Amino acid sequence: MGKRIDGNAISASVKAEVANEVEALRNKGISVTLAVILVGEDPASQIYVRNKKRACEALGIISEEHLLPADTTQEQLLSLVEELNLRPEINGILCQLPLPKHLDEKAVINAISPQKDVDAFHPQNVGGIMIGDGVFLPCTPAGVMKMLEYEGISVAGKHCVVIGRSNIVGKPMAMLLLHQNGTVTICHSKTQNLKEICRTADILVAAVGKAKFVTADMVGPGAVVIDVGMNRPAGGKLCGDVDFEAVEPIASAITPVPGGVGPMTIAMLMRNTLTAAKLQNGLSV
Ligand code: GUN
Repeated sequence: MGKRIDGNAISASVKAEVANEVEALRNKGISVTLAVILVGEDPASQIYVRNKKRACEALGIISEEHLLPADTTQEQLLSLVEELNLRPEINGILCQLPLPKHLDEKAVINAISPQKDVDAFHPQNVGGIMIGDGVFLPCTPAGVMKMLEYEGISVAGKHCVVIGRSNIVGKPMAMLLLHQNGTVTICHSKTQNLKEICRTADILVAAVGKAKFVTADMVGPGAVVIDVGMNRPAGGKLCGDVDFEAVEPIASAITPVPGGVGPMTIAMLMRNTLTAAKLQNGLSV
């Protein structure tokens, strides 16, 4: 039976470190502030934004919420981003995705100052991730790396299979695993022989966005299985991309949903916000 990797416990340890550093900054007269923008009323996004706000409050980080109506125009959104870019007391800016269809996500991401881009979505920060010297690490992939490190699971030389190639998770996840000397395969919806490739993984990261997509026959004995999925089937409870009950007995370690990667994403966002505040105040990180 695989060990359940406890994302709540690991995120608590990261958040405790961040809270200590936030307090040390406060004692020097430096505050840490995150601005969060949410456009529209997508229920899942509302939950994520609420959880981010709660985490900020618990850690002594000031959170400034900007809840905009669904019919906000591109101009209005860009002018808010510009205002937040210019305000020196705002250290981090996060615009919750996805945006309503009529808005241009790419243009909004590009408009956020790279120094305040705590999601690490701006092309300048994405480039930093690619060459291995990113200031901000993307929150979810960085959270996964932290979990592996905390559990003493080494990546070097291992076959790491990432299912999913999104800009937010799949692609940066592959890069972080590569930087730790993993041998990385990225699979996606057009991949042939997906099951066979997944079965050869020492570390399998599922970032597909489909409930219970990873079944027992896709997992080799003793694999480490990381589930990035956050699926909410209509009327059902939150569920990952992995068929947890079937895969747990085969894996050597596995992350549950909820209580796995999700809390780590928020912890790493808090760390990035702290990093932004330190750099903007001329401190080393
Ligand atoms: N939507 C889903 N995940 C994320 C995330 O990590 N950051 C933002 N801004 N939006 C998201």
